[in-house]
Amino acid sequence: MANNKPLKKVDLIFSEAFLNRDELKEVLSRSADEVIQELLDSGLRGRGGAGFPTGLKWKFTRDQKDPEKYVVCNADEGEPGTFKDREILDRVGRKVFNGMALCARTIGAKEGYLYLRGEYRFLLPKLYQILDEFHEDMKALGMDFHIDIKLGSGAYVCGEESALFESMQGDRGEPRNKPPYPTEYGFRGKPTVINNVETFVSALIINRIGAEKYQKLGTVDSRGSKLFSISGDTPIPGIYELELGMTVEQFVNEFGDGDTKAVQVGGAAGFCVPRKKFTDTIIGFEGVPTGGSMMLFNSSRSMYNVLHNYLDFFKEESCGQCTPCRVGCQQLFLGIEAVKRGEKPASYLETLLKLSQTMKITAKCGLGQSVGNSFHSIVNNFREEMIY
Ligand SMILES: Cc1cc2nc3c(=O)[nH]c(=O)nc-3n(C[C@H](O)[C@H](O)[C@H](O)COP(=O)(O)O)c2cc1C
Repeated sequence: MANNKPLKKVDLIFSEAFLNRDELKEVLSRSADEVIQELLDSGLRGRGGAGFPTGLKWKFTRDQKDPEKYVVCNADEGEPGTFKDREILDRVGRKVFNGMALCARTIGAKEGYLYLRGEYRFLLPKLYQILDEFHEDMKALGMDFHIDIKLGSGAYVCGEESALFESMQGDRGEPRNKPPYPTEYGFRGKPTVINNVETFVSALIINRIGAEKYQKLGTVDSRGSKLFSISGDTPIPGIYELELGMTVEQFVNEFGDGDTKAVQVGGAAGFCVPRKKFTDTIIGFEGVPTGGSMMLFNSSRSMYNVLHNYLDFFKEESCGQCTPCRVGCQQLFLGIEAVKRGEKPASYLETLLKLSQTMKITAKCGLGQSVGNSFHSIVNNFREEMIY
């Protein structure tokens, strides 16, 4: 049995607390050192997928000498199966802006941006209304910080932080070489904190309830709770806030339909966990990490079709800038089709597995680097479904 925590529902993100001016005033009275220490103690890791420690990100940016700094909220939410950030912005948008203000005060930024997925433009009237109140409060609290909204245009790769900056600058949305990282060279080439929508809310909550309380939730590698977008073959799809550290089995017992054969954790860029590994796999950084996407598949589903669908997505969304990703996505897609039709032998899957491994090492950004996650875990665990 894995060293897990039981499945527990939590209500921090959507709770009514931390929405008003007084509470914002209270949290803004903390020093930058206090805020950063609280985040470091809490163990909070970014909720956008990669899981970088939030306290370190804020500290590195705060430590930069350049007086021009930015706070950017990544609300591009393009990962297949993820729909939690939309709900946060819709229900508690003010908490996101308050979290951004806390970050701005901590690092010394005067401008912030919300990069909003183009398909979420229906949220704009509501968000602008909340921003009007927020800016009033900023004035009343004597804080010089302004937030604007920039809309994405439907490219998955623009959720990658450096491509997002390029897009915000009006340039072609292509990832940059890293390093330098955004803490040093971000929006307009200036030190920038870029965090996921949920991360800003969690950072705010931690600085209100305290790291000690927060880090009682979760495990050593995965502290706290987070939102999960649950879809697929489940009788109760939706968004749930859960304590981190449960096993896939515990998750399936709660959300499955009694016939779950696989769970795709972390979206198309994540990992597929087959039934035989449910018991020993922890949902979190020590097992399978996730930005929140959880797709359940029952025995009526073809895992070949699932993989085919993901690869179709990746080959469309690859920005084409680097060869491993541009050519690799195409070849994986064509390759599994050829094996399935019997035009290539089953052993050709080994060549494709090697190719996806090469992409992991050589692709320029996380898009090409992560294609191998679902490719490996689906091909290795459902090989019989891949062949002719
Ligand atoms: C192809 C690609 C798409 C991404 N899309 C998103 C996204 O929609 N939202 C997000 O928060 N992070 C996304 N990321 C991760 C970001 O690059 C970045 O790590 C994240 O915004 C940092 O925030 P965090 O530290 O709060 O997780 C994506 C990464 C890649 C490679």
